[in-house]
Amino acid sequence: MTIYLNGEFMPIEQAKISVLDRGFIFGDGVYEVIPVYSRRPFRLAEHLARLQASLDAIRLQNPHDRARWTELVGRIVAGNPWEDQNVYLQITRGVARRDHAFPKGLKPTVFLMASELIPPSAETVKRGAAAIVLPDFRWTRCDIKSISLLGNCLLRTAAADQGCVEAILVRDGELTEASASNVFVVKSGTVLAPPKSHLILPGITYDVVLEILRDAAIPHEVRPVKESELRSADEVWVTSSSREVLPITTLDGKPVGPGRPGPVGAKVYALYQEYKARVMRAPAHA
Ligand code: PDD
Repeated sequence: MTIYLNGEFMPIEQAKISVLDRGFIFGDGVYEVIPVYSRRPFRLAEHLARLQASLDAIRLQNPHDRARWTELVGRIVAGNPWEDQNVYLQITRGVARRDHAFPKGLKPTVFLMASELIPPSAETVKRGAAAIVLPDFRWTRCDIKSISLLGNCLLRTAAADQGCVEAILVRDGELTEASASNVFVVKSGTVLAPPKSHLILPGITYDVVLEILRDAAIPHEVRPVKESELRSADEVWVTSSSREVLPITTLDGKPVGPGRPGPVGAKVYALYQEYKARVMRAPAHA
């Protein structure tokens, strides 16, 4: 596996960072996960824009311009064996004596790696998956794609302990998102999505799904979703770069609607696959 660390490409076994890296000591950094299909990054410009927003929010200067990021991602994709990949990129504030306040003038640590991207199979999407509902006890800047993911990891592990793929989160009686995905619900034929705020990550897949809903004239509303609406929904889906549009068919062991994936989710899943295929066939652009 080829990775990139601070200016060099190398096998992952050779990559080393200091124990004083603020990513290691404080979780002081941000990241992105960019899906790549047939060796072509999907929505790269949008991922780089979200990266910029995360960097701005933590007062860290972007070490590279868009052209350089595009080149680095391209070289990681070319240097690894899979046609479909997740490209992971992470920037931390760099190495310094331990002190909470951000030191000035550090050289950020820049790291990229890739793994094979295996989206849920068509059978999984037809069958649906199980989730639990938990209180969202994370901080109130979940819009930042921070590498400090302990809350998300605790929540996802609680779901895994119960044989579930996701923990769907509620705060003050309203749906926020899930431990590593956004959440949509369908109620009487209308798709409901929580609005972007400091309490959810602005998902790239979330945006694609909203575009699909708009273009296909599927009734939808972006507005706060009550926990009671989540629990009485006809359909629930989670969306992310790696999970695409995955129907949730049980919540806390109880069936969602009839306990089978519903027609609106099936349609959006099909349109998402069509959209992906169309984008991948289009002429390459920077
Ligand atoms: N997670 N919300 C959270 C908390 C997430 O971690 C993610 C993605 C999403 C969906 O974002 P997108 O559609 O841009 O993938 C929402 C990534 C995949 C991860 O951490 O591995």
